Amino acid sequence: MASSGDDHQGAPFAQDAGGATSSGDSAPDIDGGHPAIEIKELACGYGKNQVLHGVDFSADVSKITAIVGSNGSGKSTLLKALFGLCDVKSGSIRALGRDITRIPTHAILNYGISYMAQRKNVFQDLTLRENLAVVAGRHRADRAMDHFPELLPFLDRPAITLSGGQRQLLAMAMILVHNPKIMLFDEPTAALSPKNADIIIEKIKDLNAEHDNCIVLVEQNVKHALRNCDKVYLLASGNVVYGGDPETLLNDKDLASKYLGM
Ligand SMILES: Nc1ncnc2c1ncn2[C@@H]1O[C@H](COP(=O)(O)OP(=O)(O)O)[C@@H](O)[C@H]1O
Ligand SMILES: [Mg+2]
Repeated sequence: MASSGDDHQGAPFAQDAGGATSSGDSAPDIDGGHPAIEIKELACGYGKNQVLHGVDFSADVSKITAIVGSNGSGKSTLLKALFGLCDVKSGSIRALGRDITRIPTHAILNYGISYMAQRKNVFQDLTLRENLAVVAGRHRADRAMDHFPELLPFLDRPAITLSGGQRQLLAMAMILVHNPKIMLFDEPTAALSPKNADIIIEKIKDLNAEHDNCIVLVEQNVKHALRNCDKVYLLASGNVVYGGDPETLLNDKDLASKYLGM
C-alpha cells in the first residue's frame, strides 16, 4: 500500500471486495476495430435548454482527443453527456462497445469511464487519504497513488493545504482509482501556472502511455491542447466545426483566426 510511513495515521485505504482491480463490473475489452467512443448526431442539454445540436464525435483507444472552443460552446456538456450528466434529446452515444445513451452515471462509471470535473473536484476539508477513500468504493486507492508519488508526503493533510497543481493531481488520482478505460478531463489546467499546467499535461500523457486508455481532454489553452493531442474537435455554439488532426486545424487560417484567436 502507498504509505506515508506512519501507520497510525488515518484509516487505511478502502480495499477491493475481491482483490480485483479491473474497472467496472464487466467492462468489455475495447474491440480493436471500433473507436472507444462513438457519438452520432447528439442533441442534448439541460431540460429545455438544448446545448449540443447534432454532434458527431469519436475517440480512439490509446489516444488523446482534445475538445476546444470558446466559453459556452458546449465542451463541458459534451463530456457530461458521455458521463450521463445531461439530458439526451436524440442521437446515440457508444463507448467501449456498449450503447450508453441515457445510461445512468453509476453504470457508466462501472463500465470503465471516469470523469474529472473542472472545479471543486476534491473535498477541501478532507485529507488526501480521506478523499481517496470516499471515492474508492470497492476499488483499492493505493494502486492509483502509485502514479502520484509526489503526493505521498501529503496523504494526511487536508486537501485545502495543497497547491493548485497538487490538487489537480489528487483529483486525477481520485478518478484513476476506478482503473478506467476512458478518462474524461474537463480543463485540468485551468487557473494553474504554466509550469503546473505542463506537469498536469505530462501526467495525462504518462497515464495514456502506461494504461493505453482513451483520454478526452477539454482544454482552454488551445496551444497546449493542439500540441499534446492526437485528434481535436473544435466546437462552436454546440456544433462541431472541425474534427481531425491538430496540424490541419492549426494550418487552417480561417478556422484558427475565427475560433481560436490565432
Ligand atoms: N446545468 C446547466 N443548466 C442549464 N444550462 C447549462 C448548464 N450547464 C451549462 N449550461 C449552458 O450550456 C451552454 C454550454 O455550456 P458548457 O458546456 O459549460 O460550455 P463550455 O464548457 O464550452 O464553456 C452554456 O450556454 C451554458 O450556460
Ligand atoms: Mg466548460
